[in-house]
Amino acid sequence: MDETKNGAVKLSFDQDLGIATLTFQMSGKANMINDEFGAGLAEALAWAKARPGLKGIILASGHKDFCVGTEIDILYQARDVEELYRRVRAVQAAYREIETIGVPVVAALTGSALGGGYELALACHRRIAIADPRAQFGLPEVTLGVLPGAGGTQRLTRMLGFQVAADFILQGKVVRAAEAKEAWLVDELCGDREGVRDAAIAWIRSNPRATQPWDRKGFTFPPPAPGTADARDMVLVGCGLLYQKTAGAFLAPQYALSAMQEGCGLTFDRGLEVEARYFTKLACGGQAKDMIRTLWYHRTAAEKHEGLPSIEQLGIEQGISTVGVLGAGMMGGAIAWIAAKSGYQVVLKDIRQDALDAAMKHCEGLTSKRARHLDEVGRRELLARIKPTLANEELKGSDLLIEAVFEDMDLKHRVTRETEPLLAAGGIWASNTSALPITPLARASQHPDRFIGMHFFSPVEQMVLLELIVGRQTSDRTLARALAFCRQIKKTPIVVNDGYGFYTTRVFSAYLMEAAQLVAEGHNPALIEWAARSAGMVIGPLQVFDEVTLTLVRKAVPHGEKYTGRRLASEGFELLKTMVDDHKRYGRAAGAGFYEYVDGKRRHIWPGLGQVVRATPERSGIDLIISRLMLAQCVEAARALDEGVIQRKRDAEVGAVFGIGFAPNTGGPLSYIDRRGIRTVVRELEALAREQGDRYAPPPLLLSMAEKGERFFEAVDQAG
Ligand code: NAI
Repeated sequence: MDETKNGAVKLSFDQDLGIATLTFQMSGKANMINDEFGAGLAEALAWAKARPGLKGIILASGHKDFCVGTEIDILYQARDVEELYRRVRAVQAAYREIETIGVPVVAALTGSALGGGYELALACHRRIAIADPRAQFGLPEVTLGVLPGAGGTQRLTRMLGFQVAADFILQGKVVRAAEAKEAWLVDELCGDREGVRDAAIAWIRSNPRATQPWDRKGFTFPPPAPGTADARDMVLVGCGLLYQKTAGAFLAPQYALSAMQEGCGLTFDRGLEVEARYFTKLACGGQAKDMIRTLWYHRTAAEKHEGLPSIEQLGIEQGISTVGVLGAGMMGGAIAWIAAKSGYQVVLKDIRQDALDAAMKHCEGLTSKRARHLDEVGRRELLARIKPTLANEELKGSDLLIEAVFEDMDLKHRVTRETEPLLAAGGIWASNTSALPITPLARASQHPDRFIGMHFFSPVEQMVLLELIVGRQTSDRTLARALAFCRQIKKTPIVVNDGYGFYTTRVFSAYLMEAAQLVAEGHNPALIEWAARSAGMVIGPLQVFDEVTLTLVRKAVPHGEKYTGRRLASEGFELLKTMVDDHKRYGRAAGAGFYEYVDGKRRHIWPGLGQVVRATPERSGIDLIISRLMLAQCVEAARALDEGVIQRKRDAEVGAVFGIGFAPNTGGPLSYIDRRGIRTVVRELEALAREQGDRYAPPPLLLSMAEKGERFFEAVDQAG
């Protein structure tokens, strides 16, 4: 055995087999693509080529994962298009060298291969993966606003055909081992690391002259072949579907589609060049930077609870093993389920047996849909951890009580008085109120220091965000214990100070009420929906209205005005009242809202709206509507920061994007202000405030930032 090592790769050569194994083991916790990787790979390939009697190469990993992709700092910091282009071309060239080296090369995927890591595997002649359900494969680049730049758009398309490749690349879809095998993202699965190595050796021995399909003479694309009428139709349909889905707000999938389509009409090497150009343009542009900042850096910081108190720091135990949930409605049932899924014993209390029955049925549904990794026994055990009850006494000894009864201060006070004494010694109380301030809620509590807001989002099992609200008397110990619970149930926290609607509900209400106001002023409802989506909002506001119900918002607005002393858009509220009170249009569940529903399916805007709204706006148009919908939210976010509700800027971004579907392409409301320019935004807000009223008035923070020309976040794109 001939062995050596460089900074990134361990090299060994088995003379008997003639096989070189290049084991990536980079200095950090994972293999990722950066300069160390590039130098290590080049050196390793040169070393392997120089082995006399070389018959094949295995690329392997000494870390848990095979390779997790490009180092994000490189992408985020890149500003110089030319320089990045050179770097990308160098990686492409190294990958090209792998597949044209003259001997079979196998990727031994003993862990996840993602992004540039999966592209490395694509440059090998065969991909053999471990059948570990934790291992993931795919090209998730577009989810961070970039595209695969190391040949992924060219190789996957030539390998699987346009449609399948588009399905993976344009959605940034990542799949687990079994599905990866089914979709031919990997060729073979083996039970363990040794199995993967044995299979790699066997494959090399039986395929001594392996080449890539696209390097063989007479290579033809999986049908339809580029240039044919069928291929053109497919691309057209693909463009249409993409536009329908993204409303043109997200550049990365558009560029990826272009790279695939244009590159596939060219030779392989020219295709790589096209890909590199699209990649570089995207990566140096503003959208990718804004997305990476929030969806990667801020999200990771939030997931790690950076800067937040922890039970370890405070030297306390989480001390939560039994959780009581009060109210088995839409929220309570699902909260009980995720707590049980995370291993807690849960008592679910309601005052109505039918609510408990419905909640347990819902939990069964969730178990069969979302706990597939468990066997039958595991699923039964999960459900058995939830104990539905009508009796308060069953809550006795709970370490954490989560209240999710109706949104009514008096009822919440009553429930607190009744059940708080049942908490175990030192137990904590959490309210899942969606807007009521925590400090007044805690007035009914004997232990306001152990009272916290724990705002879940619907559907609880899908939404990753948890908004923790610290009341005036909530202690750090309580927050730390709530955070430990949050970690256990695998949610991403933002921690905000108290105030009506805290953070997310405040910004969310601004979105909805501005849309209602626009409708009331006579702007075209379909245009409002499209404007929101083309700005990147995940769901149009009128659709959201129907989902959360018009009734709920109708009840919430007077609450909001009572607690904040501020008037919300008034014509919009009058419209809402008319819709609910006179026309019984309560929302989707009732089959009637801003939209019409047929068999539960959303069809079109309610035609009757034209009779209810008679006004005609002086000016309208998509730009005006986008500005109003976005700025109404941004000014609210800035106010929350100015008033100290938001303590960390990252929470403003993470909360908006992950809690309420704020345009992910923008990075969040503060990034949006940065991108439009603080002075432009303040000017627009002042004009809107003159026309529309105080809800648009820029808070002192924005005024002083505009004066000094400041930003919320450092500029890292070409323009900055
Ligand atoms: P829901 O109407 O579906 O359920 C409320 C449940 O509480 C009902 O089953 C009711 O029988 C029960 N209940 C009433 N009085 C009770 C008592 N004294 N003891 C025990 N149970 C009692 O309401 P939903 O939507 O689950 O909301 C619950 C809370 O969560 C509210 O404060 C709401 O604002 C908040 N929230 C709701 C969200 C949503 O999307 N629906 C999102 C986040 C928070």
